[in-house]
Amino acid sequence: MKLGLIGCGKMGRALLEGALTAGIVEAQDVYITSRTEKTRQSVAKELGVNPLASNTELASIVDVAYLCTKPNVSKIVLLELAETPESLDNTLIISAVAGLKLEAMESILPDSARVVRCMPNTPSLIGKGAAAYSTGSNTSDLDASTTGKLLGSVGSVIEVDESLMDSVTGVSGSGPAYVYTFIESLADAGVLKGLPRAQALELATQTVLGAASMVAETGLHPALLRDMVTSPGGTTITALKALEDHGFRSATIAAVEAATEKSKELGRN
Ligand SMILES: NC(=O)c1ccc[n+]([C@@H]2O[C@H](COP(=O)([O-])OP(=O)(O)OC[C@H]3O[C@@H](n4cnc5c(N)ncnc54)[C@H](OP(=O)(O)O)[C@@H]3O)[C@@H](O)[C@H]2O)c1
Repeated sequence: MKLGLIGCGKMGRALLEGALTAGIVEAQDVYITSRTEKTRQSVAKELGVNPLASNTELASIVDVAYLCTKPNVSKIVLLELAETPESLDNTLIISAVAGLKLEAMESILPDSARVVRCMPNTPSLIGKGAAAYSTGSNTSDLDASTTGKLLGSVGSVIEVDESLMDSVTGVSGSGPAYVYTFIESLADAGVLKGLPRAQALELATQTVLGAASMVAETGLHPALLRDMVTSPGGTTITALKALEDHGFRSATIAAVEAATEKSKELGRN
């Protein structure tokens, strides 16, 4: 498979490096573009992939192209691709652009264009991403499985109805930032209670990692796992009451709602 990357910033690189590490593509079969010569040359040098100055040339060479530009640039890139419709004859476009709807992509590109919308997240950089995707009206089962294979090389992947994509953005697309904030707060609290900073951060990080692994590996509901460590009249139930008193659960829900609404707003622009 020949893989293209339109926009080789943080997200694009994470997706590309995952596919390279998993051996799904060879570096010599990867083509990348960026706004500046400097970015594409440095990524090409580092990863051994082929830099190109033209997005349409890239589309005409590759079988699958990730679209990983910022939302405000993505429509310009799609219009550029639409000017050379034959470049898309044999190319699946997988967009990672937040808020960019399948319908919007299909309305700009030629009628037969095959497009997929996905929402990855940045832990994809270390192969621990969580991604979801939805397929457009011209895609085949093979296109869906190719998307699953590519995104699966950088973490877990699910297929969802496109109407849920803004919610995916709210939960897992923006989610790592909420968890980083929680880890930082937990470590800060440790420092407040006398722990050295480095030790507090190590304990907080490993606690989140361990608890997430317990949910993933046991398959038990988080509430059940929580009940198992909550003894009557003990420290944990006292702490949980404090979390409830300070609106921890509703603050988390409000954060996801805000990100979901922002993603919808981006899709309207
Ligand atoms: N970061 C995340 O956590 C995350 C999560 C999920 C989805 N996404 C989505 O991923 C997309 C990219 O985000 P990012 O964080 O990776 O942004 P980024 O680091 O700013 O990367 C954007 C890349 O696009 C390139 N670019 C700009 N104009 C271009 C053009 N006309 N043709 C080709 N390439 C062009 C830029 O090139 P230069 O470097 O030369 O300027 C840069 O390499 C966004 O749409 C975002 O919604 C991001």
